[in-house]
Amino acid sequence: MKHTFTAGRVRQIAGVTREQILSWESEGLIRPRRNARNHRVFSSEDVRRVLEITGAVVHKRIAVVNQKGGVGKTTTVFNLAPALVVEGRRVLAVDLDAQANLTVSFGKSPDDLRLTSHDLLVDDETGAEDAIVTTEWEGLDLIPADIRLASADVLLREMIMRERILAAKLEPVLDRYDIILFDCPPNLSTITINALVASTDAILPMETQVYSVKAVEDLTKTFRLLASRMNHHLNVRVLPTKIDRRVKMTGEFLASMEESFAGRMLTPIRTDANLAKAPIAREPAIFAFPNSRGARDYRRLAREILEGTGEDLSPNGSRPS
Ligand SMILES: Nc1ncnc2c1ncn2[C@@H]1O[C@H](COP(=O)(O)OP(=O)(O)OP(=O)(O)O)[C@@H](O)[C@H]1O
Ligand SMILES: [Mg+2]
Repeated sequence: MKHTFTAGRVRQIAGVTREQILSWESEGLIRPRRNARNHRVFSSEDVRRVLEITGAVVHKRIAVVNQKGGVGKTTTVFNLAPALVVEGRRVLAVDLDAQANLTVSFGKSPDDLRLTSHDLLVDDETGAEDAIVTTEWEGLDLIPADIRLASADVLLREMIMRERILAAKLEPVLDRYDIILFDCPPNLSTITINALVASTDAILPMETQVYSVKAVEDLTKTFRLLASRMNHHLNVRVLPTKIDRRVKMTGEFLASMEESFAGRMLTPIRTDANLAKAPIAREPAIFAFPNSRGARDYRRLAREILEGTGEDLSPNGSRPS
C-alpha cells in the first residue's frame, strides 16, 4: 500500500509554508497529482524531496530494549515503524527475537522465510539485502526472525568481533532508511549487544506496574560498559507503556521514574486493547484502528522521536490509500 500525503500534512511534517510548497511545485521539484476531489496528493518521494530541500532528514538507529519480558518492545516496534512511515520516513524494522512475534505480526510466516536475522548474524555470506523483505506498506521493510535465533548466541560466542556483526552487516543499506528499529529479545545476550552497538539511540519500554529496579540497573551498567570499552554512546530514553491512570499507583510510579530518568522520559503509551488486537489482524494499530488511543500515542511518539516534541497534531490519523 502506498501512503499519500495531503498538502497540509506535508506542511506539518516538514514545517514549511504553503507558499514554499507551491514554489517547489512550480519549479518541478515535487509533483503532486490530483485526487478524485481535485485535491493535491503528494507521494512519499515528494515528502522525501521536501525533507531533503529543507535539510530535515533524520537518520537514527534505535534499539527497543529491555531484558524484562512483556513490557511492550514488540508492540512499540510494530506501531512506531508505521507511525514513522506516516511521517514520510523510510523505515526498516529488524526482528531479533527468536519468538518472531514481530515477524508474525507483519503477516510473515517464519517457516516460509528463506533468510532471517539468524542468517545475517551467523552466516558470513548473508548480507542485509538478502535478508530484507518488503511489507504490505511502502516505505516499511522488515528483517524477519525465526526460531533458530535461539541458538545464535552460542554460535556468536565463537566469532571474532562478535558484538559488531550486525552494525557491519547493516552498513551497506544505511542510506536506504531514515530510521532502523531493532526489536530486541528479553535478555542481555550477544544479540542484544549487537543491536545496541548498531544503534544511535535506545528506547526502554517500561511497564509501571512491574517496574524492575534490577533490570534498569543491569541495562544502565551495559550502557556504561559500551561507553567506556567501545566509546559507543547511546541516546537512551525511557518509554512508560500500558499506562492506566485509573490504577492508583500509576501516578506514583511515573513520578518515581521521572526522578530516576529526568529529561529522558518519553510521553507514555496508554493501555489500549487495540494494540493487543492489531498483531492478530496482522496490521499495525496505526492503520487498523487509526483513531484508537494506541494509534494516537504511537503517532505522537514518532513525532517526539523525530522532532523532540510530543504534541499530537493529527488526531484523526490517516490511512494509506
Ligand atoms: N499499550 C498497551 N496496551 C495494551 N496491551 C499492550 C500494550 N503494549 C503491549 N501490550 C500487550 O502486552 C503484551 C506484551 O507486549 P509485547 O509483546 O510488545 O512485549 P515484549 O516486551 O515485546 O515481550 P517479549 O519480552 O516477550 O518480547 C502483548 O500481549 C501486547 O499486546
Ligand atoms: Mg517482543
